[in-house]
Amino acid sequence: MLSANPQQGLEAAAQMPWLIQIDDLEQSDQDRYREVWLHEARVAWLCAGLAREIGCSNAGCLEMFRAGRFHDVGKLEMPHEVLFKPCALTADEKLAIEGHTRRGAEILLRGGDPVPRGIIDAVLHHHERYDGSGYAGLRGEALPFSARMVALADVYDALRTSRSYKRAMAEGDTLSLMTRPERGFGRHIFDPVLLRSFVRMRLRRTRMAIPDTQRAALADFAASDPQQDVPADALVTFHPGYRILWAEVRGKRGPAAAVLSNGDIRDIPGGYGIGAAGAAWALPAAHDRQVRATCTVEPAASAA
Ligand SMILES: [Fe+2]
Ligand SMILES: [Fe+2]
Repeated sequence: MLSANPQQGLEAAAQMPWLIQIDDLEQSDQDRYREVWLHEARVAWLCAGLAREIGCSNAGCLEMFRAGRFHDVGKLEMPHEVLFKPCALTADEKLAIEGHTRRGAEILLRGGDPVPRGIIDAVLHHHERYDGSGYAGLRGEALPFSARMVALADVYDALRTSRSYKRAMAEGDTLSLMTRPERGFGRHIFDPVLLRSFVRMRLRRTRMAIPDTQRAALADFAASDPQQDVPADALVTFHPGYRILWAEVRGKRGPAAAVLSNGDIRDIPGGYGIGAAGAAWALPAAHDRQVRATCTVEPAASAA
């Protein structure tokens, strides 16, 4: 289970047999790839916090911690001089870097131990964007839930961290940029419900770091209706109170879980459930098929 102490949490995560091999791999390159390792550790804690914010169980939070912890593991097999190149990348180098998602999934799977599907999904798809502007163009609710969570934490941490070519952004500026309504970079690239939960979490945890006017605007955004950010042509609608995640397994479609307006996720009696670990993505237990989760308006009586 998650520990309040980061070091204890990392040690607990490293006790898993399939994680030890990855840690060995990372240990040998820890100095060379220190920036990646530290980024992953910060993203891990952000993911665990976000999972807690939306009501995941302890097991779900721990799974999201691991998803964040290993989301960029594929970068450890990228040439160091390309990964940390201080100037613009060539088209080939860019392509090689983008391959870190697939390489990461391969690294996790080659140990032979079973790795939770939500972690693999997050590693593979954390550069996809809700509006379809990511690496492979997956969009909306077709994106695995765990990948949407890691994407948020990943972008946030990248903005908040200084690099040889850029300075770190302030907390308020970062959240304002991530939630701006303009097309392109802004709120449209993130899951509308998760983004609001993330902002709510950061506002609570960083009481002193954000100027009052910025804080008020962000609080308004966090309390706003996520429906307004869903593209008109997307297969997603939000009920004012909650949305339903639909699952399709072996051709049979049914409700998987309800996401309440405060971000809480609830099982629906008789529904497919929300995954063996109690996490938030709509993968029914005991089925290996990727579920297409869409959201539709449902009568209130359907939600538990
Ligand atoms: Fe990445
Ligand atoms: Fe990353």
